[in-house]
Amino acid sequence: MSTLRESPAWNALETHHKSVQKLHLRDMFAKDETRAERFTAEAAGWRLDYSKHRITDETLKRLFALARERGVEARRDAMFAGEKINSTEHRAVLHTALRAPADSVILVDGVNVVPEVQAVLKRMADCATKIRAGEWKGYSGRPIRNIVNIGIGGSDLGPVMAYEALRHYTDRGLQLRFVSNVDGTDFAEAVHGLRPEETLFIVASKTFTTLETMTNAHTARDWLQAAAGKDKKAVGRHFLALSTNEEAVNEFGIPSAQMFGFWDWVGGRYSMDSAIGLSTMIAIGAEAFGEMLAGFHAMDTHFRTTPLERNLPAIMGLLSVWYADFFDAATVAVLPYEQYLKRFPAYLQQLTMESNGKHVTLEGKTVDYATGPIFWGEPGTNGQHSFYQLIHQGTHLIPCDFVAFGEALNPLGRHHDLLLANVIAQAEALAMGKTLKQVKAEGAPAALAPHKVFEGNRPSSLLLAERLTPAALGALIALYEHSVFTQAAIWDINAFDQWGVELGKQLAVRVAGEIEAPRKSLAHDASTNAAIRWYRKARRK
Ligand code: F6P
Repeated sequence: MSTLRESPAWNALETHHKSVQKLHLRDMFAKDETRAERFTAEAAGWRLDYSKHRITDETLKRLFALARERGVEARRDAMFAGEKINSTEHRAVLHTALRAPADSVILVDGVNVVPEVQAVLKRMADCATKIRAGEWKGYSGRPIRNIVNIGIGGSDLGPVMAYEALRHYTDRGLQLRFVSNVDGTDFAEAVHGLRPEETLFIVASKTFTTLETMTNAHTARDWLQAAAGKDKKAVGRHFLALSTNEEAVNEFGIPSAQMFGFWDWVGGRYSMDSAIGLSTMIAIGAEAFGEMLAGFHAMDTHFRTTPLERNLPAIMGLLSVWYADFFDAATVAVLPYEQYLKRFPAYLQQLTMESNGKHVTLEGKTVDYATGPIFWGEPGTNGQHSFYQLIHQGTHLIPCDFVAFGEALNPLGRHHDLLLANVIAQAEALAMGKTLKQVKAEGAPAALAPHKVFEGNRPSSLLLAERLTPAALGALIALYEHSVFTQAAIWDINAFDQWGVELGKQLAVRVAGEIEAPRKSLAHDASTNAAIRWYRKARRK
């Protein structure tokens, strides 16, 4: 048995779960007037109401005991101190250094990394300011007005999400577009209607080897050169690189002066505050980007210094463990009631699932408990008219994270009141439900009554902030980053590697070779061979 399942705190939780499982949120609220107040905590502009979770004071006490027993605080301190906690890649994990104040000292191998971070931020700010001022000219002398970010995974999802989330603060005179998929349609549609002479490509890739990104980057270079000619200087004017691989960047034709670097201690899914955020900075300006970093940092400080009992990321992380391991809840729904956060669930999918989708411990032993749940979601209220049915009345327990803001960025009539009414009502309906007695009292015919019953007792968190600002966004993302960290520490898994993406990548290279050399013999399983043969025929037509 694993050390986790053998631990006294875990065993205590298993026993405790048997009694909590039978409790209904309806009764817990009815019996306890202070529940909502006691189970609400605030940090960095965010208010987390976790009272609609299937927990008691005892549950929390035991979860905090588990966190302490598993050394969550010590691991957290090790991360902030720059220790090489990404053990399989022997790397420090220091996305927190990207948003640390300029006078901080954070050492990696004895070197303070903060001045390097600040130097890159300064270069990014100069570049962003120049582009925003229309001073960055394309090959024909016309100013750049279109920015196309080419990247995938962490080199795409953060920039896209942040652009959408902060669109209210963007310079509307600039068009930002994003290309990630190796499907040529993504590139074709992204450049549709753009004038090459006014278009700047940002090739964002930590490794500068990723198949999708490099394929798109080469297509972009061809697209530009078809208009500008083969002049090397044109590539220079129309391409920037965000990477850790200077050699590959230069080889592609982008000079070092147009490359913005970062470091191996920044994981892809934790990289939106690094040079990878250049498109965000161009869109919202250096000052607002700085505000976003300050929001991240405020949550970092909260996570680092606040006792677990009032620590938002720790509480959220422990609740995830509680549901995944004790209620067998396989998924978490993220439901932002804010249209600007429409890409937030997709962003969180990489953050949470690439981090905690692991089946072995740090020592390489197979786990005997569930790890990272599946994250999914859509902005409210759209989801209410599609999948909420299952959350309310289906057979799966799906903890929900509701996210909303007090102030509308686009105040229009009753819209915001209705939006907020919906998020509040959904959380209430999920928790309280509707009994058969209530249904009957409403006069439902006997045959219909069971269909109209809402069991309730379905848990949710309600995350509220005053207004969607760059700082609020930063704090929200950091909240999830550290929640993921807390979960990984409990589960004793490495949240910072992603070996699981490798096999598919390797096989794709092999299959691509076999498709493009139709005479090559095939030695896969029969189904794979048949699919390759089918496509060999299809592409000949
Ligand atoms: O394949 C997974 C991954 O390595 C992600 O972790 C990363 O964010 C993405 O690919 C892109 O990698 P890169 O920035 O090196 O192109």
